[in-house]
Amino acid sequence: MDIGLVFDEMFSDYSEKMERMVPHYRALIERMVSHLPHSSQVRNVLELGAGNGNVSALAVAKYRNAYFQLVDASEKMIESLQTTFADQMNIVYDLCLIQDCDFPEHSFDLIIACFSLHHLPGSDKESTFKSIYKWLRPSGQFTYADLFIDKESEEHRIFLEGWKAFVVKEDHNDWEWLMDHYAKFDFPNAEKDQIEWLRKAGFQNLSIKKFDQYWVHLIAQK
Ligand SMILES: C[S@@+](CC[C@H](N)C(=O)[O-])C[C@H]1O[C@@H](n2cnc3c(N)ncnc32)[C@H](O)[C@@H]1O
Repeated sequence: MDIGLVFDEMFSDYSEKMERMVPHYRALIERMVSHLPHSSQVRNVLELGAGNGNVSALAVAKYRNAYFQLVDASEKMIESLQTTFADQMNIVYDLCLIQDCDFPEHSFDLIIACFSLHHLPGSDKESTFKSIYKWLRPSGQFTYADLFIDKESEEHRIFLEGWKAFVVKEDHNDWEWLMDHYAKFDFPNAEKDQIEWLRKAGFQNLSIKKFDQYWVHLIAQK
């Protein structure tokens, strides 16, 4: 199934699902937003996999004079962004895959991705990091929050036990649904691989904050 259709189906209770199933979801968003560059440095923002706008709303409020480009593969998510930001003239919406995006070099001061890049297989992540580097202006910032772990690693089994304990506190059915979704649509990669790909793309001054080791907020400077 197309990833956009997967999120069309999740759309109605998306935020509640994220809070119940993703440890530190709100804390990662808050940390990401609190570490965004000063508004005087940001005129053009790209968000990859904006979803229903939980992060976009905070960024739009911070950068009132900036121009935004919000990308998502789900028609329902894009429609909800258009409704949420109906009175904002400074936002452009792109219904497309991140892998198919193409922007001119140096288009953005800031590029954000929150819990979207784990849907890309490793090779697509690596090429997306190169594109993000190209799209950023010199000294621009790339900031993202996501799950960083290799599904094939030994630590993955122990990680799943901890994740399950978090999820089943609320509802056992959630865990079954989540593991089916995780098997089909989620392709997280280890921190060391992502760091290598970011460095190869040209990024420097990487700053990493981890929550429970695998839930990560990362900032990379061009
Ligand atoms: C888990 S949600 C995260 C949404 C939002 N950033 C947040 O933090 O709440 C992932 C979002 O990324 C979008 N997405 C996943 N893979 C994508 C891809 N390859 N290209 C474009 N959008 C994608 C989905 O449609 C969904 O809206």
